[in-house]
Amino acid sequence: MSRKKVHVKSFGCQMNKLDTALVTAALQEAGFGLSESVKEADVVLINTCSVREHAEQRVLSHLGHLKHMKKSRPDLVVGVIGCMAQRLGSKLLEHEAVNIVCGPAEIPRISKLIAGAVQEDKKTLAVTEKVRRKGSEQQNRSLEEFESAYGIEDERVPAQAFVRVMRGCNNFCSYCVVPYVRGPEASRPPKAIIEQIRKLADHGVKQITLLGQTVNSYRYKAGERAWSLADLLSAASGVRGIEWLRFVTSYPAEEFFEEIMQVMAESPKVCNYLHIPAQSGSDKILKAMNRNYTSQRYLDLLDRAREIVPEISIAGDFIVGFPGETEEDFQATVNLVEKARYRNAFIFKYSPRPGTKSDKKLQDTVPGEVKQRRNVELLAVQETISDELSRQFLGRRVRVLVEGLSKKPHLNSTQGGNNPQLVARTATDYIVVFNGPESLAGQFAEVKITQTSPLTLFGQLMSDS
Ligand code: 5AD
Ligand code: SF4
Repeated sequence: MSRKKVHVKSFGCQMNKLDTALVTAALQEAGFGLSESVKEADVVLINTCSVREHAEQRVLSHLGHLKHMKKSRPDLVVGVIGCMAQRLGSKLLEHEAVNIVCGPAEIPRISKLIAGAVQEDKKTLAVTEKVRRKGSEQQNRSLEEFESAYGIEDERVPAQAFVRVMRGCNNFCSYCVVPYVRGPEASRPPKAIIEQIRKLADHGVKQITLLGQTVNSYRYKAGERAWSLADLLSAASGVRGIEWLRFVTSYPAEEFFEEIMQVMAESPKVCNYLHIPAQSGSDKILKAMNRNYTSQRYLDLLDRAREIVPEISIAGDFIVGFPGETEEDFQATVNLVEKARYRNAFIFKYSPRPGTKSDKKLQDTVPGEVKQRRNVELLAVQETISDELSRQFLGRRVRVLVEGLSKKPHLNSTQGGNNPQLVARTATDYIVVFNGPESLAGQFAEVKITQTSPLTLFGQLMSDS
């Protein structure tokens, strides 16, 4: 049999990107080739997201194309992995285009499932039946083995890698589908995590991002000792070769917060960056969202973070148009955004997700155009703040880790001779664009900031270090 080629397409969050990287590595090890285009592929694998309806619609429209394509290429194998696979299971398998449906906890089986489907024209379902039940020993072991075997560098961004420290979520925010598709919270053993980081460092990785849905609730009992995220960050800081450590996403909880901030203040390797979604500034809406804090308690946490780490840059997520959100509630969100002074805020329009509490119990009352208007308004408020914060960098020198060539040439291009435009990031997650040699990708550099926009800093290369 000639070497079969797989085209992998990924939708969704960083957790999904990591799964895609793991699956891709596993497929290569199993003897599959990779293909950049669907045309040349024997297998198309789609990693899906269920967090908002729009993400699911994009996948369905992609499957529509593939169905069409299969008319002239009946041997094409189509596999769907990720949250949508778990959420829709057998219903998704009924789709004419789909051969394999495989949930997030079943991905260690993916190479075998694909090999089976290539050999024999059949449909295969691999989803976890009782997703909220703690995984069996066997399942946990195979997930752990899969995870640590293929924990590899991000292909597109040299010198950087993601490491999952925990799976699942127990919070059940009323709008969120994650607990129903990713299962209960489970922290990975610290030994395995540190070992993985060490391996990545040996391969030249300089920046590690620790991933978890609520990464700050990481908790692992190893003998007498209970590990928190702060302990994990301290231990990871000790790994030679690793220069920057990040962690996302944090839930606004008091527990462990101070110790995590202390490690950030004390360890030069832990980046001064915190992604801590508030979701709303209205206490009424926060309660309906089943978030366990008030807007004041949330702001107190930010104050505390800034006291301990004065240089910290903070990012947040918001949902506008949650059921029952009045103009007054929305105004409370605007007020919170003004006080929080985020470096960046990610704003989403509420999207009812089947099976969640808010979908079952609450009507999606806020009209689409009101959601849209609030989204635009909140973005504008944040943009003014981002712009002010960016301007403070004018004339300053910053240390950045270079990601690679800038995808879109920026209008306000900077001087730099014949060098291409590169994109890089500061430890505090500011995007920096400057002209420099492509060979700087994956290296640290020093850049003097000469121009700013709300989300991007522009500058001149001073030196690579
Ligand atoms: N509708 C809109 N946004 C959502 N998010 C999660 N669930 C929904 C939903 N049903 C947003 C939250 C979360 C981010 C990853 O996605 O803001 O922090
Ligand atoms: Fe979803 Fe809330 Fe868990 Fe985040 S903390 S994944 S929003 S349930």
